[in-house]
Amino acid sequence: MYLTREEEEMYAGEYGPAVEKSMEILVALGEIYDAERLVSIESAQISGVSYKTIGEAGLEFLEEMAQDARVRVPSTLNPAGVDLKIWRELGFSEEFAEKQLRIVAAYQKMGITTTCTCTPYLVGNLPTVGSHLAWSESSAVAYANSVLGARTNREGGPGALSAAICGRTAEYGYHLDEERKADLIVEVKNPLSGSDYGALGYLVGQKVGGGVPYFQFQNTPSTDQLKCLGAALASSGAVALYHVEEVTPEWKDAFKGLEEEKLEKISLDKASIDEARSSLSTTDRKPDLICVGCPHASLEEIKTISEKVSGSKLKSQLWVCTSTPVKAAADQRGYTRIIEKAGGKLVCDTCMVVSPIEDLGFKVIGVDSAKAANYVPTMCGLDVVFDDLENLMVDKRKKLILREI
Ligand code: F3S
Repeated sequence: MYLTREEEEMYAGEYGPAVEKSMEILVALGEIYDAERLVSIESAQISGVSYKTIGEAGLEFLEEMAQDARVRVPSTLNPAGVDLKIWRELGFSEEFAEKQLRIVAAYQKMGITTTCTCTPYLVGNLPTVGSHLAWSESSAVAYANSVLGARTNREGGPGALSAAICGRTAEYGYHLDEERKADLIVEVKNPLSGSDYGALGYLVGQKVGGGVPYFQFQNTPSTDQLKCLGAALASSGAVALYHVEEVTPEWKDAFKGLEEEKLEKISLDKASIDEARSSLSTTDRKPDLICVGCPHASLEEIKTISEKVSGSKLKSQLWVCTSTPVKAAADQRGYTRIIEKAGGKLVCDTCMVVSPIEDLGFKVIGVDSAKAANYVPTMCGLDVVFDDLENLMVDKRKKLILREI
């Protein structure tokens, strides 16, 4: 792999041990994937933040790295294991929170912005079209490549951190034009709404694996719906990029140099999407915690939730997962107060999957996200009900869980 003189010096340890170690990782990755060179990146999104997922070994590694590592590009963090402010109120243990705060402190020492969110593009880490990135949250990778037209592979946590420290990543995969072409055409026969997008993503992700699906929709999805579609595609498959006809920035280039008619095409209707949604629920019991905001909720989504619960009192607990800057905007606009009045909470920095939610006594989690529905049973060992928020708020017998004040 070709290295510039500066990169050779970095590799040789002339910029300190953290840069040397990071360059070794980048060069090793480049050699595995036949990259010809490194490419400068605009930003990094770093996963491997929750103590639940990285454990003691991860904490030790990060504290050691933080001795001399500093990032060279704007870098943001994935969700942590607790809300960094109200973890006590939510019931998380002192012991877990102490470890979690040490992890975040280590990242902060390296110069990384400690807004812990999987939607960094909603809070300032907004890449420009065509820019190269090293992002390691699969839902954010799908959004950055597909909706924003930036270029990133699905990095692992150490790969993204190494890239942030060196300001570069190996140029292979989705950094290259030829890897961004469609592999499968998906015609969707009915207009979609709400959790349909997640259910569809779950279904297509299983079919396409690590390929690039090209969607033909009957209606135009919002950016929030694309966020949920991409998260689901990335969780049941390994999708890092998808195109939506007449919507996403690269849809016109999706077949360049390909014979479109030779590509496999599938047609999906509402019945198959409904079936995918039902298959993700593991129980028909009523959730004792409804947890939405996977990926982290946007201000628009929080506004919609506040409208749905306004003037009511919830019988289940409700967490709306988001980032601290989005919560601050929701506070200012009065949405938080409405949700809290109904008995819900805006929970920042974490989510239903990467927090130790299983230690809080909940048995059934209600989610409106296919990604969360896919991971809650395996990552938390809890039952899950996957549906639209309105349906999660009523029980099987259609007796309202919401009660008028
Ligand atoms: Fe984000 Fe957690 Fe979902 S990290 S994408 S809210 S599983």
